[in-house]
Amino acid sequence: MKDILTAPFVKEMQKTTANMYRLGWDERNGGNISYMLEEDEVKEYLDLGNVIRTIPTGFDATDLIGKIFIVTGTGKYFKNVVDDPETNLGIIRIAEDDTTAELLWGYKDGGRFTSELPAHLMSHMARLKVDKENRVVMHTHPTHTLAMNYVHELDEKKFTHTLWEMCTECIVVFPDGVGVLPWMLCGTNEIGEATAKKMEEFRLVVWGMHGIYGAGKTMDETFGLIETVEKAAEIYMLTAHLPRVNTIRDEEMVELAEFFGVNYRKDFLNI
Ligand code: 13P
Ligand code: ZN
Repeated sequence: MKDILTAPFVKEMQKTTANMYRLGWDERNGGNISYMLEEDEVKEYLDLGNVIRTIPTGFDATDLIGKIFIVTGTGKYFKNVVDDPETNLGIIRIAEDDTTAELLWGYKDGGRFTSELPAHLMSHMARLKVDKENRVVMHTHPTHTLAMNYVHELDEKKFTHTLWEMCTECIVVFPDGVGVLPWMLCGTNEIGEATAKKMEEFRLVVWGMHGIYGAGKTMDETFGLIETVEKAAEIYMLTAHLPRVNTIRDEEMVELAEFFGVNYRKDFLNI
């Protein structure tokens, strides 16, 4: 059996959480990541018959029975993952009863998965129906995206349109736009269900006055989606109080989308 601390998926979680912390997006225990793993890659490092303990999830995840995820722990700080992955991360498998997680590794101090597990697993289920290669769900509190929530209408057409105007490549990176939820109580099945519903349509979902969710095939793709929104939100926040002299026009966005061959939300433009 190989040493789990050398596993590429553990290293990816360490690198990504450290990077997000460095960007100032994940203060204290803010943010959480879940990453679906292949059984074959995990069994090189872990005895899949050895369940350390079981933890109830509190919701049905029928479509994910037998699926394995590496997930950040609740209350754990992203800044600490790099030095102590075994305490701050866990590897869980959804049990046959579909409401229990079997712990295969991690949460060494008796901890458990993120309180946002409902939003994560429900989003995985929703995205897998649209894209069977989806593997990653990421939640974070990016500073400018969050700031923009306080000064911009929380309407998904208007919010997406403003972001598309802020950087030339935005419409190419997230042509499907950004879903927006109003402020809701976090850590609940309700916000999980609302997020998953949006994930049927969007790979990015803003949680009003809280943060953002992203979903993708790889850690890079998912991080890149959120990073691009955050960059656009930063430009918005740097310019929102100044007279707007220039902008990227809707006709130019169409030109971009057509040139790069992306299927964009036509109803999010004003032409
Ligand atoms: P957890 O510490 O439970 O992952 O919660 C952090 C968070 O960002 C809640 O939305
Ligand atoms: Zn949060």
